[in-house]
Amino acid sequence: MRIYDIIEKKRDGQKLTKEEIDFFVQEYTKENIEDYQASALLMAIFINGMDEEETVNLTESMAKSGDMLDLSAIDGITADKHSTGGVGDKTSLIVAPICATLGIKMAKMSGRGLGHTGGTIDKLESINGFNVSLKTEDFFKQVNDICVSIIGQTGNLAPADKKIYALRDVTATVDNISLIASSIMSKKIAAGAKNIVLDVKCGSGAFMKDKESATLLAEMMVKIGKKCGRNMAAVITNMDIPLGSNVGNALEINEVIDILNNKGDKQLRELCIVLSATILSISLDWDYEVAYKKAEQTIIDGSAYKKLIEFVTAQNGNEDFCVAPVSSKSLEIKATKDGYIQSINSRIVGESAVLLGAGREKKTDTIDYGAGIVLYKKTCDKVSVGDTIAILYAETDERLKNAEKLFNTSYTIDDEKPEMKPLIYKTIR
Ligand code: URA
Repeated sequence: MRIYDIIEKKRDGQKLTKEEIDFFVQEYTKENIEDYQASALLMAIFINGMDEEETVNLTESMAKSGDMLDLSAIDGITADKHSTGGVGDKTSLIVAPICATLGIKMAKMSGRGLGHTGGTIDKLESINGFNVSLKTEDFFKQVNDICVSIIGQTGNLAPADKKIYALRDVTATVDNISLIASSIMSKKIAAGAKNIVLDVKCGSGAFMKDKESATLLAEMMVKIGKKCGRNMAAVITNMDIPLGSNVGNALEINEVIDILNNKGDKQLRELCIVLSATILSISLDWDYEVAYKKAEQTIIDGSAYKKLIEFVTAQNGNEDFCVAPVSSKSLEIKATKDGYIQSINSRIVGESAVLLGAGREKKTDTIDYGAGIVLYKKTCDKVSVGDTIAILYAETDERLKNAEKLFNTSYTIDDEKPEMKPLIYKTIR
């Protein structure tokens, strides 16, 4: 088999066989195919597409390019939750304790933030002492003992995706549904959980800007997961505005604590209960309404908060939640006219948080865990001149000034109250 022939076939709009896809994935991972040939094939896929069978074959091939985690050492029902990436998205840290409280085994591998979207691992590392690098046997033991552990992705999980994603990133071939779906699902399949719920974000802060493309992506990922023998559901949610009020690592941990103590942003709480109920209903075959009530009850009675503390301390995190203190300098963003907030562009809010030091522009950047943004007003809120819209936190005045300039382009104020978009669009099973 020759990579040249595979490129030519896809260039001419033909369907690739399982063997051809496997040849490309495995040989590229072993560095037997040059980047320029892999780029040409990715561009041909981007332009001519892949059908469902090709996408499933690509996913399976990337999943088995490295370690396939065998969760059979975990007793009970395993589940995983994945978000396609957003701004202020701390749902994993709320959903995992809720589901663990109800006996689901949440063995989760998460990523770091890159660009305007945050990552669960960075958020956890803002807790003093928290260890995200457990050995596999310790990871399994913790899940068996207390039903939950979250660690960073191991070096060898779907290495083909790592290489291919890096190439897509620099060859303008990221935004293709088959490529995104296979990239995300290869990691989820390799991570081993039997039940998988996806939070597919849609809007200004997400890969998918509209409901139609988010639905296509969600449907494709659900089909792939089912073909690979997993129970699947995907919830399509609004990422036009940041999720919750806090953006930035330590700030987001504080918001997690608030939600699990029956306080905080109502929409964030609602989404976490919906995601938890979806996990419980597909994993345990529970009626959705029953699952919703049980998930909500774990917040009301404080049992999910207790589970969060158990989980954090099991991974060496400080029991008192001495998260990294919020950065020493702050700047208030005030309304300069009366009216209603028309929209808050979450991508720009995420990029402003990066300028403050809360995220990375490149992989090697270090993070200021205390930096970030607290939003006091969001879309549809009424404001008067002088009201605080947000407070920015950073360690230097220069960072605050740069972020202020950008943040001020993220929102508009006008006389008419805009229509409120729902947070949750639909669930695909
Ligand atoms: N996240 C991934 O892991 N892969 C993509 O292709 C896009 C988002």
